[in-house]
Amino acid sequence: MFAVHLLAFYFTKLKEDQIKKVDRFLYHMRLSDDILLDVMTRFQAEMVKGLERDAHPTAAVKMLPTFVRSIPDGSEKGDFLALDLGGSKFRVLKVKVSEDGKQNVQMESQFYPTPKEITHGNGTELFDYVADCLADFMETKNIKHKKFPLGFTFSFPCIQTKLEEGVLLSWTKYFKVRGVQETDVTSSLRHALRKRKDVDVDVLALVNDTVGTMMTCGYDDQRCEVGIIIGTGTNACYMEEMRHIDLVEGDEGRMCINTEWGAFGDDGSLDDLRTEFDREIDLGSINPGKQLFEKMISGLYLGELVRLILLKMAKKGLLFSGKISAALRTKDKIETKHVAAMEKHKEGLQNTKEILMELGLTPSEEDCIAVQHVCTIVSFRSANLCAAALAAILTRLRENKKLIRLRTTVGIDGTLYKTHPQYPKRLHKVVRRLVPNCDVRFLLSESGSGKGAAMVTAVACRLVSQRKQIDEILASFELSKENLIEVKNKMRGELEYGLKKETHATATVKMLPTYVCGTPDGTEKGKFLALDLGGTNFRVLLVKIRSGRRKSVRMYNKIFAIPLEIMQGTGEELFDHIVQCIAEFLEYMGIKGACLPLGFTFSFPCRQASIDKGALVEWTKGFKATDCEGEDVVDMLREAIKRRNEFDLDIVAVVNDTVGTMMTCGYEDPNCEIGFIAGTGSNVCYMEEMKNIEIVEGTEGKMCINTEWGGFGDNGCIDSIRTKYDKEVDEGSLNPGKQRYEKMTSGMYLGEIVRQILIDLTKHGLLFRGQISESLRTRGIFETKFLSHIESDRLALLQVRRILQQLGLDSTCDDSIIVKEVCGAVSKRA
Ligand code: BG6
Ligand code: GLC
Ligand code: GLC
Repeated sequence: MFAVHLLAFYFTKLKEDQIKKVDRFLYHMRLSDDILLDVMTRFQAEMVKGLERDAHPTAAVKMLPTFVRSIPDGSEKGDFLALDLGGSKFRVLKVKVSEDGKQNVQMESQFYPTPKEITHGNGTELFDYVADCLADFMETKNIKHKKFPLGFTFSFPCIQTKLEEGVLLSWTKYFKVRGVQETDVTSSLRHALRKRKDVDVDVLALVNDTVGTMMTCGYDDQRCEVGIIIGTGTNACYMEEMRHIDLVEGDEGRMCINTEWGAFGDDGSLDDLRTEFDREIDLGSINPGKQLFEKMISGLYLGELVRLILLKMAKKGLLFSGKISAALRTKDKIETKHVAAMEKHKEGLQNTKEILMELGLTPSEEDCIAVQHVCTIVSFRSANLCAAALAAILTRLRENKKLIRLRTTVGIDGTLYKTHPQYPKRLHKVVRRLVPNCDVRFLLSESGSGKGAAMVTAVACRLVSQRKQIDEILASFELSKENLIEVKNKMRGELEYGLKKETHATATVKMLPTYVCGTPDGTEKGKFLALDLGGTNFRVLLVKIRSGRRKSVRMYNKIFAIPLEIMQGTGEELFDHIVQCIAEFLEYMGIKGACLPLGFTFSFPCRQASIDKGALVEWTKGFKATDCEGEDVVDMLREAIKRRNEFDLDIVAVVNDTVGTMMTCGYEDPNCEIGFIAGTGSNVCYMEEMKNIEIVEGTEGKMCINTEWGGFGDNGCIDSIRTKYDKEVDEGSLNPGKQRYEKMTSGMYLGEIVRQILIDLTKHGLLFRGQISESLRTRGIFETKFLSHIESDRLALLQVRRILQQLGLDSTCDDSIIVKEVCGAVSKRA
């Protein structure tokens, strides 16, 4: 019994001694939490530097925008190909994502070797090889006949300006292919694919493996917003707020940033933590001075770090009784998989012994314990350093979201993390210690980055096809120069019909004589009342005009609302209401007794026999009061004044708003001979030669013609440029079939056209997540003022979104962009 205890004591003691020895030798590699918190702070500063426009060029940590803006939302679907190049294995995949209620992903894949001739050859050979492998894969899977969208996982730092393009900054890890650096890798891939006629793929996305990992995990856990790789190399990406990314236009939403944290320390900022072994590794690598953080952490270097340490310890006589084998002197003889095997829980010690013997050494029991501990220190340091940088990212995410506690998921992959027996546990534990205010779920990416690349491609694919559909719809609003000339010629023809005696009665452009025969000459004077009915506002005005040296016009006016039920009630009610407003105005101005001459701006088509007579031809715009069409509006106004029996007025003129506008401007500019309204409605008047106006007696001088061009097209002559949305707006209006040109051009209808397009886009799932809301169904929500506002150049997307929200349209950032485009297309055509 005593002997057993003694033996146990002896072993414990022996182990302790060895561990102490190694600890002392490698004390510099054992990082306390204080040091790790310091590393975390340094990395936080590096991230800020990489994101800032001015600091970015010299920043070691590049913080590369990826143009991946969202995590999968489960609506992705289709068949995709993916390439996964740059990790320990090169893989070609086919990914089938179906949406059949439950998310469902089927993958088939094949690994291909990457021999040294390829990883150290030239660019053309590399991409031809990649294309060969893809073709071989498609051949084996018998899918060569079909066209596929393809996502390219390329695990190296690339500068992207769009999703489907990336310029290689520098090779890392074990790749060093000539002529690729500083070129766009997707175009090289496309070029190689084009050379061979047997495959047809569309390279839609270039993604880093970290991004692929985040997307793979994001498909299963929507909370996933970080992707990290601890494999051959190491790196991380995360979702950053757009407003912090100086290198990319726009402030809305988030974008995934590929940190390229492997380069942390390349500017010397980790020199105090790097050991002689780290320096040696670096010097022996294919990219000295580069990826210094990666070289302290990742799988490509861990085994070699252990070998260098063992060699040094042996040289010092601290191991193997000072004996050194040829293998121990040989670079890369110890690999990360050996480190993992030596650290195995139960078999570890036995594995260590076997591995050392393989290396031609004859290790003692003590040696094995010591070597195992060296492995632990090296791999633990790796996990510690990753944890510190990850803690910095998590803190940044938490602060970006202004949260006290962050709950999040980290998608993670890489051979070191996956195959090392203790690594995950250690990493998780340290992260939780460093950022106690983050609840982190670590989600292992089971199916690699390829699936994520397919997700990114699926999103890209959806966007491409959505873009196409939107472009097609908006293209129907584009007018070529030829179209415009055709419209011009037709309009010209219709104007002439309207003026001719034989055709006037049936003309759609009515060409109404106004009996206004001249523009003001500046000698006008006096006090007048004016009414202005038919635009957005109903106004009553008092206008005082002085002539001569002290020529001036003074106006006093009051705006009155005309309720919808009056606009669309009976004629008597409408005119009674108008007279009621006049009474209020006279009262307000204190001129109830004065019988002033009155001009009535009545912005509807009137057939006039003199300046003070005008029979309403038909209502347009939003008016539909009964018993008015065909009646003289001056008479109706007079009768309403009589009915009220409170005051009298001398109605001397009835004018269209276009005529009013021409006269207003003519008072300032004697050359003015056209009046144009682009308002609630659309219309033009102009001065025509009397000899051309066949329906009015006389051939001398000129008369103003109210064209009523809003009716242009009512005979179908511009149907070729009308869209189905115009037809819908027309059908839903108060006067279907009438005022077709006005309905394509004026304020009262543009918003409705926009609404019809938005409804259609939503039906096609291109907007508002495919949900047609109650507000979108509501006629008239898009008043002209909202349209103008949305189109204002200086308006940021966020504000557009706010306007839409006010209108009850819950829009995403992408929705807002589309709505703005729709408004632009409609108003441009108008
Ligand atoms: C106003 C005129 O300036 O413009 C009105 O005084 C006219 O008579 C109006 O109807 C047109 O624009 P809006 O605002 O109605 O549609
Ligand atoms: C290297 C690459 C990086 C990649 C990482 C993991 O650090 O530069 O792009 O993500 O390895 O594979
Ligand atoms: C409508 C009316 C017309 C008016 C125009 C602008 O087209 O019919 O008379 O000028 O709107 O308000």
